[in-house]
Amino acid sequence: PYTEAANKITDDIDVCDVAGIFEKLKQCDFEMFEPKGQQQYFFQTLFHDDVIEAISKVANIAADIMTSQTPNAIVISGCGTSGRVAFLTARSLNKIVPGEKFRYTIAGGDKALFTSQEAPEDNRKAGVNDLIKSTIDDVKVLYIGITCGLSAPYVAGQLDYCMDNLDKFVPVIIGFNPVYLARKNPIYDWDKTFYDVVTRLERLTSQRKGFLINPVLGGEAITGSSRMKGGSITMVILQTIFTHALNGVLTSSDMTSQLECKNLLKSYQNTCRLFYESSTTTVTTLMTSATQSLKSNSSVYYVSSGGSGVLGIVDSTECIPTYGASLDDVRGFIVGGYGEFNNAEGDIGSLGKNYQIGCDDLSKLLKLRDLEHNDTILVVAKSWDDPVLNEIQVEKDLGTQLKLVAASQSNVYVVVIDTEQGKREKNMPDYVAKLFVISIDLNEELLSENLIEICSKWIFNAVSTGAHVLIGKVFRNYMVDLKVSNQKLFHRSIGIIQRFCPSVSEQEAMTYLLKSIHDVTNVDDVMHRSIKDHVLRATPKDKVVPTAIVMATTKCDVTQARQLLSKYHVIRDALSSVVTP
Ligand code: F6P
Repeated sequence: PYTEAANKITDDIDVCDVAGIFEKLKQCDFEMFEPKGQQQYFFQTLFHDDVIEAISKVANIAADIMTSQTPNAIVISGCGTSGRVAFLTARSLNKIVPGEKFRYTIAGGDKALFTSQEAPEDNRKAGVNDLIKSTIDDVKVLYIGITCGLSAPYVAGQLDYCMDNLDKFVPVIIGFNPVYLARKNPIYDWDKTFYDVVTRLERLTSQRKGFLINPVLGGEAITGSSRMKGGSITMVILQTIFTHALNGVLTSSDMTSQLECKNLLKSYQNTCRLFYESSTTTVTTLMTSATQSLKSNSSVYYVSSGGSGVLGIVDSTECIPTYGASLDDVRGFIVGGYGEFNNAEGDIGSLGKNYQIGCDDLSKLLKLRDLEHNDTILVVAKSWDDPVLNEIQVEKDLGTQLKLVAASQSNVYVVVIDTEQGKREKNMPDYVAKLFVISIDLNEELLSENLIEICSKWIFNAVSTGAHVLIGKVFRNYMVDLKVSNQKLFHRSIGIIQRFCPSVSEQEAMTYLLKSIHDVTNVDDVMHRSIKDHVLRATPKDKVVPTAIVMATTKCDVTQARQLLSKYHVIRDALSSVVTP
């Protein structure tokens, strides 16, 4: 699948400096709108007529629901980043569309907004239950399931349920593979695969009873890391659908409607170009600081307001499963805490520090930090009037912790995304030594909030990706030390082992993986177990895939492989010592 393919652009990202990494991330993001290489000739891309037509049709249905007086709803759903983007979209639209018509469901519930909950992604029954629960009182529902890889069982269950109940549901799937590359592996406790379900949807599209929006984006910068391009284009598509619906789409002809969608998508492409053109110094400086923080066992803290605050939290959440980061390495905070975050389950801060997301929580945390720490605090403001700037603009005498830390060892960076062409630079307090302005000239009034928000996603994604690459968490462009915590990641792991040991077959790669998961030299006793069992055993373990790669390359046993890995602090160095280029 394209979403699992390594991208040639980032083949050597692990040996690049900050400038090189920034350039590669930029090239990869540009591909969201114009994929390079073979696939653009064979598969539909974002600007393909079929994609635009589907977006415009879905916008029509959305407009209908948004304006109706009957109890109708729009449910957006997904797993991991896809579910978090679903939440972000529902949250912001409920603020402007009356009637709380937007809902989200995410595998693992609201906990999954802050921490990775990957096992529930495999649970298609939980998907159905969550959907039924959230739409119990509704007459008509527009269901938008997001699964970048066309693979998540949680979404498959919901989609199938919608297709069984077409009198109530209009099902839509957003993903980034052609249908024939949808996942064909069996789903636990079911006789259907994702492929079966999505081909059923494909048949419905000709009758306009269902919709499939699946442009190909080119491989992710870090292989399989769909939080990046996948997450961004999901935002672009959702925002295009709903902006178009809000624009009064019902009154326009098909042609006009599609043209408007195309123009909206072009605004994002334009913004992406402007963003990358004007942010090199800012982002590379931030990447360098974040790298130094992580290298010295310190933290990176993001602080923002509104949707950007959510996006900072989302980015930090993803670092744990993607890079094996600790809970403290990267954390996000939002101005106004839970009151502003506005998730369905409310304040769940009592569950632990990863669920504490307000600026007050950051202040408390910083009070406990000693001066030895070399934290990076990244404040992203969407304009000169952004409330986040008040968080750092207190009188010196009042002494917030942000100020105290700024005065100590830590690096407080303030980035203002300025769409008003330098309208004004407020007098930043002395202690904010590092002020960066990313100037973007936006003409699109209606979209501008969304366009700025997506820029903040690109900043957070680049900083966390760059820093983790620079501390050696990535080998070539693979996140080799991934947690094997669900079916998709189990299969991805087999692919990674084969990528570094091309001489081993798929079966042999799986054998090495099982040896590493179960700590055995002979897999006969574990081979018959289900993938679910393997995943349960693998989830809490460290270095499962690197251990398997060392075994597959050097033909040593599991103990020797672990011994070799223990000699290195940096996973990239360990694997470079055994894998020949
Ligand atoms: O299984 C973990 C994960 O890969 C997340 O990193 C990702 O955001 C999520 O699954 C969703 O994947 P998809 O959108 O392909 O269903």
